[in-house]
Amino acid sequence: MSLRYRDRVVIVTGGSKGIGKGIVKVFVDNGAKVVFCARGAEAGEALEAELNKAGPGCCKFIPCDVSKEEDIKRLVTSTVDTYGYIDCLVNNAGWHPPHKSTDETSADEFRDLLNLNLVSYFLASKYALPYLRQREGNIINVSSLVATIGQLDAAPYVATKGGIISMTKAMAVDESRYKVRVNCISPGNVRTPLWEDLAAQTPDAAATLKAGEDSQLIGRMGTEEEIGLTALYLAADATFCTGIDLLFSGGAELNYGYKNRIP
Ligand SMILES: NC(=O)c1ccc[n+]([C@@H]2O[C@H](COP(=O)([O-])OP(=O)(O)OC[C@H]3O[C@@H](n4cnc5c(N)ncnc54)[C@H](OP(=O)(O)O)[C@@H]3O)[C@@H](O)[C@H]2O)c1
Repeated sequence: MSLRYRDRVVIVTGGSKGIGKGIVKVFVDNGAKVVFCARGAEAGEALEAELNKAGPGCCKFIPCDVSKEEDIKRLVTSTVDTYGYIDCLVNNAGWHPPHKSTDETSADEFRDLLNLNLVSYFLASKYALPYLRQREGNIINVSSLVATIGQLDAAPYVATKGGIISMTKAMAVDESRYKVRVNCISPGNVRTPLWEDLAAQTPDAAATLKAGEDSQLIGRMGTEEEIGLTALYLAADATFCTGIDLLFSGGAELNYGYKNRIP
């Protein structure tokens, strides 16, 4: 099999689990040199060892909390110190808090989520761009389908994800002068630890998971490998795409559903 991203250097934030893990694995499978981060070292180091054993690319785990600007700076400088250049930045680390109404949500909760889900994407882009410009590289931002279709009792989350799509378009315009592409993937339902944690907080986790599976026309959730391949497509193949929002949704947004919430 030909290697579609051989020797390219990629940063993936939040790469130890879930969607980020799928992206790290697909890039390593395709010959890339990947630096990925998360807060928890155990899962990161285990994945690093597993993928370096398998090859053909390689990876390096760096503990980093993307809600801290100094950590983001260190992630970028360590990548350049290790591999010399950066071809692709995947902004993925983020969180969906348990569902809560607007009345129950504080300003500080909103600000903290904004910092984690949106400002971190801005800062990682800001510090990686000087290197991406040298390589005509690209940025891939992981947003969410709910940025476009909305979601019940999740206004701050939906707002942060909408901001990611808008910022993607703004940076695509700005960075075009350096031939850097900036794109976005919006996942619908992907079975990850985050999805399972949220389901576990509902009265019937198994029923919530089943409803999640049944929300797609394709009749199941997306997999970590499928989203990895979608990111690889944007990085390696979609060289005429910039500023796009690629829905990774299994058709979840199509057709009418039962939506009347009036008591
Ligand atoms: N799963 C879905 O259905 C879905 C749908 C739409 C959008 N998304 C988006 O996709 C992205 C990934 O979601 P996921 O479902 O894969 O989540 P996940 O299963 O919770 O994995 C998140 C990853 O990010 C890391 N992370 C979390 N907070 C971090 C921080 N402050 N600094 C650095 N790393 C951090 C986690 O490791 P540590 O906890 O050890 O830090 C983990 O590696 C998020 O932006 C999410 O909003 C997911």
